[in-house]
Amino acid sequence: MLDKSLKDMTFEDFCRTVFDTKDTFQKPEVMKGVRVISTTQYILGPCVPAYLAELGAESIKVELPKRGEPMRHTTPFNEPFLYPLSRWIPEKGTGLGFFGANTNELFMSLDFHKPEAVQIMKRLAAKADVVAENYRAGTFDRWGIGYRQYKEFNPRLVYQWMGGFGGWGPGRNRASYDILGQAQGGCFSITGWPKEYGGMPSKQTIWIMDYWGGAVSAFNIIASLYWRDNVSGVGQFLEYSQVHGAQRHLTDFIALYGRKGIVGQRWGNWEPLLCVHGILKCGKSSYPGSKNPQEQEVGFCFVSAFKDEEFKKLCSLIGNPALAKKYPAHADRVAADAQTAIYPALEKWAADKTKEEVWKACTEAGLVAQPVWNSNEVASHEHWHLRGSIQWLDDPTYGDIMIQGAPYRLSETPARIKNAFKPVGADNEHILANLCGFSGSQIAELEKKEII
Ligand SMILES: CC(C)(COP(=O)(O)OP(=O)(O)OC[C@H]1O[C@@H](n2cnc3c(N)ncnc32)[C@H](O)[C@@H]1OP(=O)(O)O)[C@@H](O)C(=O)NCCC(=O)NCCS
Repeated sequence: MLDKSLKDMTFEDFCRTVFDTKDTFQKPEVMKGVRVISTTQYILGPCVPAYLAELGAESIKVELPKRGEPMRHTTPFNEPFLYPLSRWIPEKGTGLGFFGANTNELFMSLDFHKPEAVQIMKRLAAKADVVAENYRAGTFDRWGIGYRQYKEFNPRLVYQWMGGFGGWGPGRNRASYDILGQAQGGCFSITGWPKEYGGMPSKQTIWIMDYWGGAVSAFNIIASLYWRDNVSGVGQFLEYSQVHGAQRHLTDFIALYGRKGIVGQRWGNWEPLLCVHGILKCGKSSYPGSKNPQEQEVGFCFVSAFKDEEFKKLCSLIGNPALAKKYPAHADRVAADAQTAIYPALEKWAADKTKEEVWKACTEAGLVAQPVWNSNEVASHEHWHLRGSIQWLDDPTYGDIMIQGAPYRLSETPARIKNAFKPVGADNEHILANLCGFSGSQIAELEKKEII
């Protein structure tokens, strides 16, 4: 039952109160008590235990001793000054690309090639609810620490394997990355400019399919835990394919091909199904004095006016009512020929305006619009700071860093960020002593033998 004061509030005040970020750390965590072992690398695998850890799970990341997993070294801006804090000095620092996919975790090092490591992994798996892993198909099975081996002694284990192509079929053992998944999954064939505009397929700069695949895998895990704890009493083996994940998000392109034989084309910043619903070039820069060359040039603004009434408003805003007469219905506008006439007319109007001026004019006319923002604009906007979406974290290892919080809210059990990441093996002693029962001298021996 809601108390009276909450019941009487406006919806805005209700949301502000129940999601108030200053109460976050006083509230319980929804996944507390769930233990996840993460043998993951790059982004697709690592973000899964991180998402669960943001909800309160105890996620333990196991990496190659000293060097850690490859993502630590895959992006620039290594921060070697982190490591005086760790006895397990790595060969190199950690790049900023490691941020975002390894939050709130404990970090342990282990060389899986050593027989002792296999025994340690089995001890960890015996006490785990979940294992998350994204090596090639069958790598952990070959090492004797895959699902089939763990299931023998922990039938309640939920094991999420993420790979490129699935565990069977002729192409199963190839290497895969987000971009490969999107290429084979069909995404890039419909992204980028058409030939007439000098275009070629274009990839998304963020690894969206990795983060999306991680989110899908996390909900698979949570569903399996529900089934284990409420229905069956047993865990299961879960597979996620990066390519299939990309295919799944092709919206209607597969149905269109199946039904009509139409192969989707690239439409640049326009839409094949909606017009107007695209990004306009605005000829005046918002930052003429900027040192950033892309900011000096022009700006861009998303404008939506695909309903007939909206399109009429847009045409009168740009002083071209004839355009609305020529293309009165959506079916008229959405044809490729129509779009190649409509967008240049809109950009002619936007040629002497900044993206903010285009946004303001459209908004005042009752249309949906949004300037295309850069990192500076995203990180500076009051709305997102107030909501704690963009937040400063006083990271125990790294110091002050600006991060993005979890994009969803739970009123009673909010997600929270405790740390961005730690050095390789930072929690070796804690984990080996408390979960595996090793003494201090045994841990020192493991370190001497370079097993951890
Ligand atoms: C990412 C990927 C291409 C890397 O391929 P790879 O390194 O050639 O092969 P694996 O992932 O199976 O890793 C095995 C290697 O990891 C190394 N390794 C990593 N961590 C280790 C550890 N803790 N202990 C010992 N060896 C370790 C070993 O060298 C091992 O090679 P080996 O079989 O010769 O002993 C592959 O794992 C893959 O396609 N994964 C699925 C898709 C994916 O998630 N891609 C990344 C996200 S975009």
